[in-house]
Amino acid sequence: MGTQVRTAIITGASQGIGLACAKRLHRDGCRVFGFDINKPSSQGLEVSEFTEFTEFLIVDVSDSSACKDAMSKVGQVDILVNSAGIVGPNMPFWEVSDQDWSRTLDINLTGTFNMMRAVVAQMRERKWGRIINIASIAGKEGNPNLAAYSASKAAVIGLTKSVGKELATDGVLVNSIAPAVISTPMNEKTAPQVLEYMISRIPMSRVGQPEEVAALVSWLASDECSFSTGACYDISGGRATY
Ligand SMILES: NC(=O)c1ccc[n+]([C@@H]2O[C@H](COP(=O)([O-])OP(=O)(O)OC[C@H]3O[C@@H](n4cnc5c(N)ncnc54)[C@H](O)[C@@H]3O)[C@@H](O)[C@H]2O)c1
Repeated sequence: MGTQVRTAIITGASQGIGLACAKRLHRDGCRVFGFDINKPSSQGLEVSEFTEFTEFLIVDVSDSSACKDAMSKVGQVDILVNSAGIVGPNMPFWEVSDQDWSRTLDINLTGTFNMMRAVVAQMRERKWGRIINIASIAGKEGNPNLAAYSASKAAVIGLTKSVGKELATDGVLVNSIAPAVISTPMNEKTAPQVLEYMISRIPMSRVGQPEEVAALVSWLASDECSFSTGACYDISGGRATY
């Protein structure tokens, strides 16, 4: 691919980790398409002010046809970062409703699957692609009272391992990331005692910053990442040592 400008799609790009990834990949020289169910407004800016985006599209990743339709507006895509996600229900698992369980799995897991399936054909055809799925430490360890979220993220790690192996000789590298608590709007909705528990498990005794996650994504999206696929990369301040 040489020095050709690459096109990246970032889901969940309106805020938090997705937005940090959009800014970072824009800085890396990519054309960046943001997909999100909400417009980027968390910092009081309108979409047009986000120069990081080549284009921003309203897409619900849990809707497979919406993902396919949006792809037709992007054309060639080289990099996919699946960051769209929700915390889901914060409660003992026996109190979780059918609806909350399904919605969490539909967005965090099926949304990731939908987007990977929508981009893979053309990546395989060109023999180059980078897919980065934002999973979570919750998917490795399980966080109490976050059963749907933990299950969805464990499934994203498993999905990544499986697809990474399927595409291993196609030039399309698929990796996941397992962050511990990162300072984003997502945590504003997390119950304080859950947040406190999660920080207490981090040896560095602090939350991570979205830019720290974006730096890892930047490398995973690059040519320099060349001998890793199906892996789950830790970014947890030392919480996970495996
Ligand atoms: N913040 C953390 O502590 C943390 C830790 C580990 C993993 N993660 C994961 O990182 C990813 C990003 O998290 P964040 O902290 O930036 O969250 P966030 O809530 O700040 O941002 C998530 C974005 O996803 C979008 N979104 C939600 N449902 C969607 C849908 N159906 N279709 C398209 N977009 C949708 C939201 O509108 C939002 O812009 C998530 O997958 C999350 O599970 C976050």
